Amino acid sequence: MKVRKAVIPAAGLGTRVLPATKSIPKEMLPIVDKPAIQYIVEEAVASGIEDILIITNRGKSPLEDHFDHTPELEERLLSSGKQALYEEMVAISKLANIQYVRQKETKGLGHAVLCAKSFVGNEPFAVLYGDDVILGKDPATAQLCRAYEQYGLGVCGIKEVPHEDIQKYSTLKVSPLQERLYKVTDMAEKPQTPQEVLSYFSILGRVVLPAKIFDILENTKPGAGNEIQLTDAMKELCLKEGMIGVDYTGTRYDMGNKLGILKAIIDVGLVHPEVKDGLKAYLKEEILPKL
Ligand code: UTP
Repeated sequence: MKVRKAVIPAAGLGTRVLPATKSIPKEMLPIVDKPAIQYIVEEAVASGIEDILIITNRGKSPLEDHFDHTPELEERLLSSGKQALYEEMVAISKLANIQYVRQKETKGLGHAVLCAKSFVGNEPFAVLYGDDVILGKDPATAQLCRAYEQYGLGVCGIKEVPHEDIQKYSTLKVSPLQERLYKVTDMAEKPQTPQEVLSYFSILGRVVLPAKIFDILENTKPGAGNEIQLTDAMKELCLKEGMIGVDYTGTRYDMGNKLGILKAIIDVGLVHPEVKDGLKAYLKEEILPKL
């Protein structure tokens, strides 16, 4: 079955990027000139997704405004001859069919995904974590959707993480299937002892799930951090029928932490037609000599 719907959870508090995220959602933080959420919506669209649900909460109206029409701005751009910018702004409001729902309490990623139950209905759906921007030629979500279509099982986007960091992430029990594809038979969120570490593969940023995940989520008790963890629900799916892990190609930027944001801005800046030459010269002449 083709994956047509996507859910983007963007209702977290973003405490790791305070004070910037006190009044601006972290999903709206710009990478040079484009907010993180736009990269994510563009990836979904490039992966064949038609309908998108963004999970928001109080204070996230800038997200909705960003994908809306801006008649005054558009008129001004047209009348001042800024045709290309005008077209770019109009295209943003036509990117996809986007809906919004509020998560009324910040009870975790699993709880946020559960808010998408009626939007999703009985279809498989992609989840793109709102603070993970992944850049690459082949969109990460498309890679996961292909694996779903091939195996008919839930799919998680996976990457090996530095061994000393595994306790901050999830850990997966995997066995290789084909290049970059693994069968996942067990998982755990934030392993605290070496015995709990199943491998250094972790779920990062993207998953594709069957609708049956909602029945599991409805009965999932709060786990790590007293939040309803999506990993705990996916673990049940793994134990029942297994999942597929896709070690996707592309570079992932964690927009939920300060260093991730800086890396994204530098990498994108170095290829951005308007600023790349100035940024290269600045790094070479001013920054490198200080390192
Ligand atoms: P994080 O684990 O990064 O949590 O969420 P957070 O609250 O946003 O950030 P910190 O830890 O306080 O800095 C991963 C993704 O899940 C969403 C977030 O918006 C982010 O995209 N999320 C998390 C929700 O939508 N609702 C929640 O209750 C928790």
